[in-house]
Amino acid sequence: MRTLVRWRRDSSSIGASSIGLDIGSSAVKAVQLKETAGGYALGIWDSEPVPRGAIVDSTVLDPAAVAAAVRRVLRHEGCAGLPVAVSVSGSAAVVRRVSLPPMTAEELEEAVRWEASYQIPIPLQDVALDYQVLRREGPSSARDAMDVLLVAARRERIAGYLAVVERAGLGAVVVDVDAFAVQNTFVLNYDPAPGRCVALVNAGASLTTVSLLMGSRMLATRDLPLGGNACTEALQHELGLTFEMAEGLEAGRAVDGASREDVTDVLEAATERLMQEVAATIDAFRAVESVETVDEVFMSGGASRLPGFARSLEARLQAPVAMLDPFRVIARAGRGDSDEDPGHPSTAAVAVGLALRRAGDR
Ligand SMILES: Nc1ncnc2c1ncn2[C@@H]1O[C@H](COP(=O)(O)OP(=O)(O)OP(=O)(O)O)[C@@H](O)[C@H]1O
Ligand SMILES: [Mg+2]
Repeated sequence: MRTLVRWRRDSSSIGASSIGLDIGSSAVKAVQLKETAGGYALGIWDSEPVPRGAIVDSTVLDPAAVAAAVRRVLRHEGCAGLPVAVSVSGSAAVVRRVSLPPMTAEELEEAVRWEASYQIPIPLQDVALDYQVLRREGPSSARDAMDVLLVAARRERIAGYLAVVERAGLGAVVVDVDAFAVQNTFVLNYDPAPGRCVALVNAGASLTTVSLLMGSRMLATRDLPLGGNACTEALQHELGLTFEMAEGLEAGRAVDGASREDVTDVLEAATERLMQEVAATIDAFRAVESVETVDEVFMSGGASRLPGFARSLEARLQAPVAMLDPFRVIARAGRGDSDEDPGHPSTAAVAVGLALRRAGDR
């Protein structure tokens, strides 16, 4: 199996035959979309828990346990033999935007490697490197330069995810990056206007992916090594509980001896710390990209349901914050009842973006 990162997508490569497989540290999420005359319909949307410790710092430590979760999530009829798209994130992948003078395609290949050796904090022989030239908007002088998005993913981490896919008996693979998957989900569902600046915040268990977009174009993205686990751990330590009890409380279940007020206080304080990092990241992006205002923020991922998440972001960024609906334009025949959902829809933000990928696309 070739270990290439292939995250670029153009309109000719939008397909609906892949299964988007988001192998998160707390759950594996799978989405499959069917192309219809009017757009997309939802085929599969399912989620299965991953045992704690099986994936740590974007590294698969227990391939057997993760492959078992993948097999369970893909037990559905019609899954066998379909290509899958997976993603890497966190310290496994680095994305940087660079500006280059106009040049030929051959010169660009050379320049990309040169830039990457400075911009990517990982030895180049250890990464799968990809890039995309972004269209420049603005005055003609600015249009003469090229904006290039570099993405480098650690080969050994990719191999870890591919080993899981292989072990689960699955076929061909596209390897994407979480940030681009969320971007594709957002663009499909919200069709953003070119001059509108939007921040996307996908908060999972161990990671929070923060991206700044101008229209549908990625300006900057970072994965912060912080997420719902930090809040669950705060609850665990402050209230003297097991991690599992704390997680249950977080999801709204009752636990003897823990009052709702105590839980909300601890979670809000922990969420504040996470939001401080998220807002600082967005402010840093705005400064570097000379962006005056962020028009709107869309949040997704399980941890975006933490109490105070939206309120704190709204106050810090002075921008409206909404929950990203990954299924906004996707027909869900007979699935209007959210009780049928395997999890909150916002946890499908990465998997939907991956499901839009087609094996071999660029
Ligand atoms: N109702 C809820 N309120 C608060 N937090 C929640 C809720 N439901 C789930 N979470 C938290 O969301 C996290 C899981 O979200 P998600 O499925 O997006 O993570 P993941 O993709 O597995 O993790 P990562 O991408 O960081 O490896 C967990 O930390 C969980 O405690
Ligand atoms: Mg995730």
